[in-house]
Amino acid sequence: MKNKLLWFATIALLAACTPAKDSTEQKIDNLLSQMTLEEKIGQMNQLNGMGLSDDLTGQIRAGQVGSILNEVNVDVVNELQRIAVEESRLGIPLIIARDVIHGFKTIFPIPLGQAATWNPAVVEAGARVAAEESAASGIRWTFSPMIDVSRDPRWGRIAESYGEDTYLSAVMGAATVKGYQTDNLANPTAIAACAKHFCGYGVSESGKDYNTTWIPEVQLRDVYLPPFKAVADAGCATFMCSFNDINGVPSTGNAWLNKDILRDEWNYDGMLVTDWGSMEQMIPHGFCSDLKHAAEVAANAGVDMDMMSYGYTQYLKTLVEEGKVKEADIDNAVRNILRLKFRLGLFENPYTAKVENPYYRPESLEKAKQAAIESAVLLKNDKQTLPLKDVRTVALVGPLADAGVDQVGTWCFDAEPEHCVTPAQAFRNLEQFNVIVEPGLTYSRDNSQQGIQKAVAAARRADAIVCCVGEEAILSGEAKCRADISLPGAQTELIRQLKATGKPLVLAVMAGRPLTIGEETEMADAVLYHFHAGTMAGPALAELITGQAVPSGKLPVTIPKMVGQVPVYYAHKNTGRPASNITMIDDIPVAAPQFSIGSTSYHLDAGSQPLFPFGYGLSYTTFAYANPVLSDTVLTRNGKITVSCEIRNTGSYDAYETVQLYTRDLVASLCQPVRLLKGFQKVHIKAGQTATVSFELTADDLAFCHSDMRSYAEPGDFQVWIAADSQQGIPATFTLR
Ligand code: GLC
Repeated sequence: MKNKLLWFATIALLAACTPAKDSTEQKIDNLLSQMTLEEKIGQMNQLNGMGLSDDLTGQIRAGQVGSILNEVNVDVVNELQRIAVEESRLGIPLIIARDVIHGFKTIFPIPLGQAATWNPAVVEAGARVAAEESAASGIRWTFSPMIDVSRDPRWGRIAESYGEDTYLSAVMGAATVKGYQTDNLANPTAIAACAKHFCGYGVSESGKDYNTTWIPEVQLRDVYLPPFKAVADAGCATFMCSFNDINGVPSTGNAWLNKDILRDEWNYDGMLVTDWGSMEQMIPHGFCSDLKHAAEVAANAGVDMDMMSYGYTQYLKTLVEEGKVKEADIDNAVRNILRLKFRLGLFENPYTAKVENPYYRPESLEKAKQAAIESAVLLKNDKQTLPLKDVRTVALVGPLADAGVDQVGTWCFDAEPEHCVTPAQAFRNLEQFNVIVEPGLTYSRDNSQQGIQKAVAAARRADAIVCCVGEEAILSGEAKCRADISLPGAQTELIRQLKATGKPLVLAVMAGRPLTIGEETEMADAVLYHFHAGTMAGPALAELITGQAVPSGKLPVTIPKMVGQVPVYYAHKNTGRPASNITMIDDIPVAAPQFSIGSTSYHLDAGSQPLFPFGYGLSYTTFAYANPVLSDTVLTRNGKITVSCEIRNTGSYDAYETVQLYTRDLVASLCQPVRLLKGFQKVHIKAGQTATVSFELTADDLAFCHSDMRSYAEPGDFQVWIAADSQQGIPATFTLR
């Protein structure tokens, strides 16, 4: 009897100590136990949509496909799903994926523009609309948010990023995940998010896409990894490998990145997919000898699913038989894939129900317009040119005045230009103006001059000019990198001739990146920068120009004076010779002796400052910032201090202001940036009113990665700003004990 009691007690104790597997994990284990090796490998295979081709349906029936991307016909999706569920041996549903980067049908500003709103709620709302619209087509997985911190405007994919700052990218990435996924991934309108591109893709050398990167681990951990950790913590369901190598190791084959960091350090249990063909691309990288070798390397580096290399389906079985890949590792990959499908509710509800009028709903268009309004950054407004007043006739000119296909920007496969409302269409609906529309140039790269005369003639007949310039959509995005980031074509000549008319000249710049618009800004009376703002770019511009809306955008990325300054960003190091005693190239005396001018850190032909700094943006009103006030000048290791500031709206418009919190570690064992964004709040302040904005700071907020790869804050003195952008403000000082 005694032994039996002891036995029961042991069993009870073991049961109490063994974490109960939740039902999903039990279901996964149960399903996995029934799967053949071929069926497991089938789940690890993602193919591009091919309609209902026999080839594809045959592979699905044979259990050789886990996911399909780029199928957006909901009837085809449901039929493919039916074949998977009813005609394959185990009936495992497919997961359908699509790049829904900033909208499906209703297009929001490109992510760089969404970051310019500094409003996570707007970004989340946009992702929610994108999810609802795309889920109606059967899509349940999107390859977004792209959270590659990017400090190089030559890189075409800066358009898809949230800009140059780690903290802002993390906040916007997490908001996007929440918008796509909601708090219940099984929600039929929830779509799985995908953190991409893991990692360091934004550091592609010379801003050339797919190029190599050299990133010290300390910098990788301080700058490029944190947004990915933030979205993982926000529940991002999947990750995607980046095309680039980091210090010689392509991410698709980087076990340190994909296992040591993603799985072991972060305890991430989502699914990791390659980028398109990135497994096979390890061959031209010179990292793998052939596709079989690439499949082995990717499998052993923890990659769960192969997007379009066909490496796993062709070689993984043989690699297991040869003992080069363990079946246990394949089981882990399949667990991650099945877990995603269970979490999405695909086993219970594999089919997409018919949704009435899912696209372009009025409330969706209104959200898109609001996002476009908040994404516009007012860079210049001399003589209060904007909002236009006492104006009867407006000449709306420029190649982007009536270009729906371009105003939506890159990465919007499903956008329909005919649904885009252009500035021309929106301005024509305005009652307060007569509008003359004359593009002058037929597209942004147009070098012909004959159209310019028509635009100039229109301008002469008008009281004010709104000139829509920038880039066609095709000039940014993947593999669309530019070594010269000035206005393409004859746009600058157009602006010169418009300037010569002497009429008030407003530039509306629509682009996928920062452009070096120094000369054009000089000529203009006002400049509104609108990173390709989507379906409702036109109505947004009209409301901003007329004052119905007040600009509140702030730059998420530095705008350089010239491309030779790149990389130029606010969170730079101070160097041992910070810029001072600047003598510009034209001011150097002839026959100047070698060291007769300042020997500090700047360019002779550009100085040390960009054209416009990170965080910069004007309003139609003005704001006065008092000096920051600290709750204490000493911050203890486990304590916190509150930093507050009074901001007064000293103008005549009620408006939003994005108040930014920056810190600087004055002395550290590794040199630290001159400023780092640690928080922001977008506050509405009525004309003449004052608001007090407060932030809390703890030691954790001041942590940085050390040479031993541990992140922590060091005791010492810090500066703190509450400011309107990354260059303004009077700092206060405190000490971390
Ligand atoms: C592309 C992109 C990636 C995208 C994927 C699927 O090459 O690099 O961002 O999600 O392929 O379209």
